[in-house]
Amino acid sequence: MINYPLALVKEGITPVLVPDVDAIKKPTTTFAPKDAPVFYNKEMELNRDFALACLRAYLKSQQATRFRYCEPMAGTGIRSLRVANEVPGGKVLINDINPFAFALIKKNVRRLKLRQRVSVCRKEANTLLLEFASRGRGFQVIDLDPFGSPAPFLDAVAQAIEKKGLLAITSTDMATKCGVYPQACVRKYASRPIHSSIGHELAVRILLGSTITALARHGKTGVPFFVHSTAHYIRIYVLVEKSITKAKEAMGELGFVSHCPQCFAIESRKGIVNSLKTTCPNCSARRLIGGPLWLGKLFHEEFLTFLEKELISSNSVYGSIKKMKKMFSLIQDEAQANASLQALIGYYDIHQISDKLNVPSPALKVVTTALQKAGYIATRTHFRLNAIKTDAPVNKIVSTIKDATK
Ligand SMILES: C[S@@+](CC[C@H](N)C(=O)[O-])C[C@H]1O[C@@H](n2cnc3c(N)ncnc32)[C@H](O)[C@@H]1O
Ligand SMILES: [Zn+2]
Repeated sequence: MINYPLALVKEGITPVLVPDVDAIKKPTTTFAPKDAPVFYNKEMELNRDFALACLRAYLKSQQATRFRYCEPMAGTGIRSLRVANEVPGGKVLINDINPFAFALIKKNVRRLKLRQRVSVCRKEANTLLLEFASRGRGFQVIDLDPFGSPAPFLDAVAQAIEKKGLLAITSTDMATKCGVYPQACVRKYASRPIHSSIGHELAVRILLGSTITALARHGKTGVPFFVHSTAHYIRIYVLVEKSITKAKEAMGELGFVSHCPQCFAIESRKGIVNSLKTTCPNCSARRLIGGPLWLGKLFHEEFLTFLEKELISSNSVYGSIKKMKKMFSLIQDEAQANASLQALIGYYDIHQISDKLNVPSPALKVVTTALQKAGYIATRTHFRLNAIKTDAPVNKIVSTIKDATK
């Protein structure tokens, strides 16, 4: 089954055989990782590095020493192989429906002498998860990393994840959740997206809303521990609780968001039925309205402390540690904004507002400091580097920008 050239790559401390894309691709054609016999994308190393860091932080936060881990869509298996090789205490199940992937994962398991800790399967992901769930053999950790949308797998994942388990989900269908294909978003996530500068945060909130709704159908809920977003994908980590009461409470955190394309004002309101008016109360323009989506917090302060310790500890190896630390520092900032009683939804792009005002854009720091001095919360955000999160009304942001550029 392995009738194509392989290359050895090392992520963390784990050497893994992957398709040798340079040797496979024809010089005249474009070649995406998806076109190889087995999927491997070097660009996703940051995603996998955070996956291992979050797993370690989760195990510490739960004081867990043993865990059952499942990756239902594993490609070469690199993510799970790193878990089995680098994180003690795991029983790891690696699955992929592709026969080439199945053969390569088994080869990698043998090379790394991980047969004691790892089982390899070649099943359809939903079938696999439901088989385990129906036998009462759920997992403490599930890492779902599909092509595109995770939506078709959320119900099975919700059934196969155990209480106090960690659910990690990647979603690469950004155009859908950022409002380029609104009907696809409604169909997959039962949520209307907004095509605007706050799209990436709303994409995370749409995925969280859908995930928490799927968990609620099965008497569970999820507390968002950590999320991150890049241009091409988003990632969520939730701690799963088994409780009808908490599931009902979490459903109360769903609601709608409006974003005005004229004055950039943002408003949000909880409720499964939209009660936001289309007309902007600030400038009377027609607003964009999206939802239902998650309006609760995106980060769990205590979990961030565990994750920070993990990122500064010298015991683990992460190839993308520089990028991780940069992103984490922005996330720590915005998590402070979330620490207020109500989560702050969305952000204000200072360049976008300055352009509209026809003034040069001031430095972000000047605006955040001025707003903080005026008594508002104001922080950077990893979702958009030119933007700030604040509880200040948009008119105050506008006057602050004007003052800063006088
Ligand atoms: C994005 S890749 C996984 C990458 C991998 N998690 C990593 O970190 O490198 C998605 C994988 O899902 C597999 N796949 C697609 N549909 C599937 C299904 N319904 N059940 C199981 N595997 C599936 C594909 O063969 C592919 O290898
Ligand atoms: Zn407006």
